[in-house]
Amino acid sequence: MFVKELRIMSERVLWTENLCKYFGGLAAVNNVSISVREKSITMLIGPNGAGKTTFVNLCTGVLKPDSGKIYFLGKDITGWPSHRIYREGFVRTFQIPSPFLKLTVLENVLASLKSDAENPLKAPLRKIWIKDEEENIEKAFKILSRVGLEDLWYYEAFRLGGAQLKMLEVARALATGAKLIALDEPIGGVDPAYAGDILGYIRNIKNTMNVSFLLIEHRVDIALPYADYVYVMDRGKVIFEGTPPEVEKNPKVIEVYLGG
Ligand SMILES: Nc1ncnc2c1ncn2[C@@H]1O[C@H](COP(=O)(O)OP(=O)(O)OP(=O)(O)O)[C@@H](O)[C@H]1O
Ligand SMILES: [Mg+2]
Repeated sequence: MFVKELRIMSERVLWTENLCKYFGGLAAVNNVSISVREKSITMLIGPNGAGKTTFVNLCTGVLKPDSGKIYFLGKDITGWPSHRIYREGFVRTFQIPSPFLKLTVLENVLASLKSDAENPLKAPLRKIWIKDEEENIEKAFKILSRVGLEDLWYYEAFRLGGAQLKMLEVARALATGAKLIALDEPIGGVDPAYAGDILGYIRNIKNTMNVSFLLIEHRVDIALPYADYVYVMDRGKVIFEGTPPEVEKNPKVIEVYLGG
């Protein structure tokens, strides 16, 4: 029993215990306890105002919870500032700081990879850092191929479409060595054909790298098949959790979200 419990604990990258956040009298996040397992796509769905974005903001340090706990890779990160959580390997896209749009796609990824050229001890040793730079370029191309952007490596980021920009953010998160990437509506506003590609890239990254995803999605019809596990929120609470087929046929979920 004890061994089994340990095993279950070690498989979770993120978990929360009774997380709460109030805005005035409104319980935006009300006693939410969820887990994100290693190498999983965990999806958070629910109608407008359910508390999904607030929940992710709490987990990534953008907002401070009023009560409850957040654990990442076994550490209690409750109340940590967002930059510290980011450095720990939990990255929320749209948060990554850098001069972003004027740089090319490749430069954006390179900027997120750790380079020793900035190490003052190594800087005089040109041969060493040129080799490091070459290796980084190779790494960056590998990452870009994971998100389908390798052919656009020389584009300035401002020339990318919305969905491509989102994939570039995923690429940059991967370049930082993220273990968990939170995406708030990655296929929002994307046409269904490309939406499938995006989710396919995310699934492929999840299957082949040691990375998990916490995905907020509105377009359940398209996104659900890509999820390993789903939490359904409504008015601040988790009203159901399960696998995609369980979610699809749960009457409560159909009532509040899928619209019957
Ligand atoms: N900064 C804030 N101040 C006051 N109320 C807020 C704030 N942020 C969110 N809320 C309220 O908290 C509730 C949850 O909002 P949240 O944005 O987390 O929902 P959501 O599930 O992400 O919705 P959507 O699907 O529309 O993005 C809503 O009632 C919202 O109006
Ligand atoms: Mg939201």
